[in-house]
Amino acid sequence: MTQPSPQQYDTLIIGAGAAGLHCAANAARRGKRVLVIDHAKQAGKKILISGGGRCNFTNLYASPENYLSSNPHFCKSALSRYTQWDFIALVDKHQISYHEKTLGQLFCDDSAKDIVKMLLAECDQYGARVQLRTEVLAVEHNGQYLLKTSAGHYQAEQLVVACGGLSMPKLGATPLGYQIAEQFGHSIIPVRAGLVPFTLQDDQKQRFGEVSGISVPVTAAANDGYFREALLFTHRGVSGPAVLQISSYWQPGDAVTVNLLPDMDAFEWLKNQQSEQPKVQLSTLLQSVFPKRLVNALGGEFDWPLNQRLADISHARFETIADNLNSWSLKPNGTEGYRTAEVTLGGVNVDEISSKTMESKCQPGLYFIGEVVDVTGWLGGYNFQWAWASAYAAAEAL
Ligand code: FDA
Repeated sequence: MTQPSPQQYDTLIIGAGAAGLHCAANAARRGKRVLVIDHAKQAGKKILISGGGRCNFTNLYASPENYLSSNPHFCKSALSRYTQWDFIALVDKHQISYHEKTLGQLFCDDSAKDIVKMLLAECDQYGARVQLRTEVLAVEHNGQYLLKTSAGHYQAEQLVVACGGLSMPKLGATPLGYQIAEQFGHSIIPVRAGLVPFTLQDDQKQRFGEVSGISVPVTAAANDGYFREALLFTHRGVSGPAVLQISSYWQPGDAVTVNLLPDMDAFEWLKNQQSEQPKVQLSTLLQSVFPKRLVNALGGEFDWPLNQRLADISHARFETIADNLNSWSLKPNGTEGYRTAEVTLGGVNVDEISSKTMESKCQPGLYFIGEVVDVTGWLGGYNFQWAWASAYAAAEAL
């Protein structure tokens, strides 16, 4: 039986997420006939749940220093040609109200739905077609790209891969983007979960599970990463922005150095308090800076003499306690993995993509944008900014 001839477009985009939709609208604005294909029932599912349902859509201070990649220079070109101010202008054009929550992070006042609506409205305005519930069965190239899908065959001169990373499979994440990259001769920088909570060994898990829900301001450091934000104790281990941020710098087996009193030299503080209030118990003193339950958990972890009066504790012991407080060497058991990770580190090797156009250097007409590429932002709107910027760079070149 002869197959019906494929429907012809100028540009096919796989993935109706942040990068795919933004690319589709901008390519269509430039006159391209664009079809976006996605297997999900809904476009922009990650956008909808992002930022606790309010989508932290960019960051006022986004710059290349906020990104991890095997080539840290790669993201510079796209980020400089489509900045946070460009995306803010689009949000303003659609009269979406927003606010800065903290550290330059911009969130919708109402709902992340506003951002998805905006992207779909832009696609609609310029005539980009978005087709959901469509499985990609095969990708072929015979002069043009042929997509064989559950809804029929589609053909185009250009194919944009915008199908994201592996985080949150329940939202539709698949390895298709990496598979297409490999099919056309690309190498993949090994992938792993990023912006993800840590799990702890059983004894620590039990101890700190008791203080689940308590959050403390800390600094967290590992390898080249250093963040000053909150750490949250959970039933499974530790989370909170400081932990999510440092997880992207962490490798299995590494310890994370946590400073529980980042504004204090704990040794000096303990000595001073010993002179000022010698009869006070260590436990009471520590309860002036931490919740009581946390003092008990930390006391158990480090074997602190909580019931002793400060006067009865030696300076040598204070040094050890201060070290525990100012540089706790916390060794995670692992991470919660892709189930809860916000992003996937690694991805399509950036040395094989043009930083100006996102076009493959291995295969003309093939483009990679968004999270599938080995560029990963910090927590705080940086990942969406990369999705917008890389999408725009490709759209300008299509
Ligand atoms: P994205 O994942 O958005 O889109 C990929 C699309 O491809 C999906 O629609 C998917 O269905 C489709 N697809 C996948 N496989 C397919 C297949 N085989 N066939 C067809 N279609 C396929 N970032 C940020 O900057 N601010 C924030 O507030 C948050 N918050 C946040 C919360 C949570 C819970 C998560 C998991 C992530 C975030 N992020 C974030 C990260 C951000 O969501 C992420 O970096 C971007 O969505 C990446 O955009 P992409 O378009 O590359 O992928």
